[in-house]
Amino acid sequence: MANNASAGLTVDNKSTPEGLDGVIAASTRLSLVDGEAGRLVIAGYAVEDIAPKARFEELAYLLLNGRLATEPELTKFSAELAARRELPEATLLVLGEAARRSVPVIDALVMAVPTLLTSDGGDYQQSSLRLIAVLPTIVGSYWRLLKSQQPVAARADLSHAAHYLYQVFGTEPAPERTRALETYINTVCDHGFNASTFTARVIISTHSDVISAITGAIGALKGPLHGGAPGPALDMVLEIGRADRAESVIRAKLAGGERLMGFGHRVYRVRDPRADVLAAAAEKFYQTGGDRDLYQLARDVELVALRVLAEQKPGRRLDTNVEFYTALLLHGLGLPSVLFTPTFAVGRVLGWTAHCLEQLRDGRLIRPQSRYIGPEHSNFVAG
Ligand code: ACO
Repeated sequence: MANNASAGLTVDNKSTPEGLDGVIAASTRLSLVDGEAGRLVIAGYAVEDIAPKARFEELAYLLLNGRLATEPELTKFSAELAARRELPEATLLVLGEAARRSVPVIDALVMAVPTLLTSDGGDYQQSSLRLIAVLPTIVGSYWRLLKSQQPVAARADLSHAAHYLYQVFGTEPAPERTRALETYINTVCDHGFNASTFTARVIISTHSDVISAITGAIGALKGPLHGGAPGPALDMVLEIGRADRAESVIRAKLAGGERLMGFGHRVYRVRDPRADVLAAAAEKFYQTGGDRDLYQLARDVELVALRVLAEQKPGRRLDTNVEFYTALLLHGLGLPSVLFTPTFAVGRVLGWTAHCLEQLRDGRLIRPQSRYIGPEHSNFVAG
């Protein structure tokens, strides 16, 4: 049987590749990922055109409504999002308890999101808006609790991106810091059927609720093969420390069977276009602030890593992925590495919720099959 885009993942199970490479599980209008050309189109717009210029709220409206908002629509939509930033009491209680136990930030996020079930019921649209609006408050509040600081009250007078930085640092960010963060969350807001988006769509395809779907998606995101890579990517640059050490450290890592974090991708066979968008944003940002030497070192490390990967894995076409420059940009903004993956979630929650709504509108229960490779005729003897 051939791939069928509308059939909830239907393929001939004898030829299905492990890891579902190339399998079409649903149709989407949200984003196009062209791995051969290195192209990402978000709801019709090239990522390099829209991410550095648009407000996050514009992208949110686009993905949730299928078109850009008019100015009055955008004003109304931005206010609706801003009105949903506050945390319910139950969320604060869970975050407080998590902080007392020093739970990692990304795990605290996984724990906190289900507390929103009490306030949102089963309204898919309302839950989606609530999640997009509130994730920055959860991450910022928890980070402050972890450092024994009081969370700051949610504010409705800041843009979404500025509000996230405000929640984390407790002060209003300068415009260039807001722009850098906004370019980042725009760049990662959606990306086809990556593992976390697929997880969200599988959960919602049972007509469960959006909050459960996003809880599952965050769980999928945090793994180091997906959204957990930027922290280790930065660690590698810091470990290398000087450009003349890059070659020996990288060769030693590969010889020890390690993967270089921030390189390689399941779909892209050329450079991840998001890496270019974030590299340009980092280049601009590091002109005025941040550790310029670290930025230069990272660029040197990237060149060596690409050369050594091409030499050692010649058939694999490994290139820089989004996580390498994520690490650099977020580090420049002063975010600690434990906030890198949670910040990814702050951006990607837009795509997750948009996919949930699309799946509910157009999709079918996603129910693939497994290829059984165990014994079939073992004899069970009781007792
Ligand atoms: N460093 C070294 N070798 C690598 C890397 C890497 N970063 N990525 C892949 N390879 C090698 C594998 O070791 C394997 O080599 P082999 O054929 O000699 O055994 C070959 O390339 C194929 O690897 P697969 O695991 O089949 O590739 P897959 O498509 O499953 O991997 C992945 C994609 C998981 C992203 C991988 O490239 C990786 O682990 N990268 C590092 C982690 C990372 O940066 N993750 C973030 C991805 S972007 C995102 O999710 C937002």
